[in-house]
Amino acid sequence: MAKITASVYTSHVPAIGVAIDLGKTQEPYWQPLFAGYEPSKQWMKDNKPDVIFLVYNDHATAFSLDVIPTFAIGCAAEFQPADEGWGPRPVPMVKGHPQLAAHIAQSVIQDDFDLTIVNKMPVDHGLTVPLSLMCGQPEAWPCSVIPFHVNVVQYPVPSGKRCFQLGQAIRRAVESYDEPLKVQIWGTGGMSHQLQGARAGLINKAWDNAFLDRLIADPAGQAEVPHIDYVREAGSEGIELVMWLIARGAMADIKGGPAPTLRQRFYHVPASNTAVGHLILENN
Ligand code: DHB
Ligand code: FE
Repeated sequence: MAKITASVYTSHVPAIGVAIDLGKTQEPYWQPLFAGYEPSKQWMKDNKPDVIFLVYNDHATAFSLDVIPTFAIGCAAEFQPADEGWGPRPVPMVKGHPQLAAHIAQSVIQDDFDLTIVNKMPVDHGLTVPLSLMCGQPEAWPCSVIPFHVNVVQYPVPSGKRCFQLGQAIRRAVESYDEPLKVQIWGTGGMSHQLQGARAGLINKAWDNAFLDRLIADPAGQAEVPHIDYVREAGSEGIELVMWLIARGAMADIKGGPAPTLRQRFYHVPASNTAVGHLILENN
């Protein structure tokens, strides 16, 4: 059977992608940020999965206001890096895993979560920046990637509780797939940031770090936190953090297994308009 080996959490700032693509990672502004991901890149090499189930949000790239899926699973064989206004990032094509994606769709939908099936989906910085942070600049990404989009842009957005429950359904789906695949689940986006309005530029280090503490040690409690707290404390785009609860919900301890091992924890401000947070939790 397939199994979830680990969960990875990281912010997804577009300017990070630009810094990587233009060779600026050692500049004074960026160096401390990329230093925080060096151990993670090594961990990724040492713990190469077969598939990454990558929970992220599309930023009006694949989906416009015409159609807004709350949860959408990418079932295609390939996903093209998107043109977000400056041309597509010079990163490899994202190779999917249609068989596992179809199985997860079947299992999760029968488990009462309504997913949108997507067979064509250009992937924006929400997906490619986390891959770049964890994998560097390879010729090809090291494994298959199943993109899983969550609407955190246009209200109403799903609750943290719903996301946490969905993570548990995804774990059941992966563990019922009849092939011994090693699957990582990634939760991306966040941390505190607000890109518009009177509070543009908001960063809340204390709240972000309390979120990291609680995501590790009390995820069920964190899942009860309402949207308004994220928006008030972490800014309008801080709501991206509910996606981390999907990855956390898929970990073994949520179903009574052993607590995960913390392999990396990193927090850095600033990165563009965003606080950057990062965790790696390994199942035991
Ligand atoms: C920034 C952060 C985001 O999450 C995003 O989607 C776009 C921009 C920023 O910090 O600039
Ligand atoms: Fe974003």
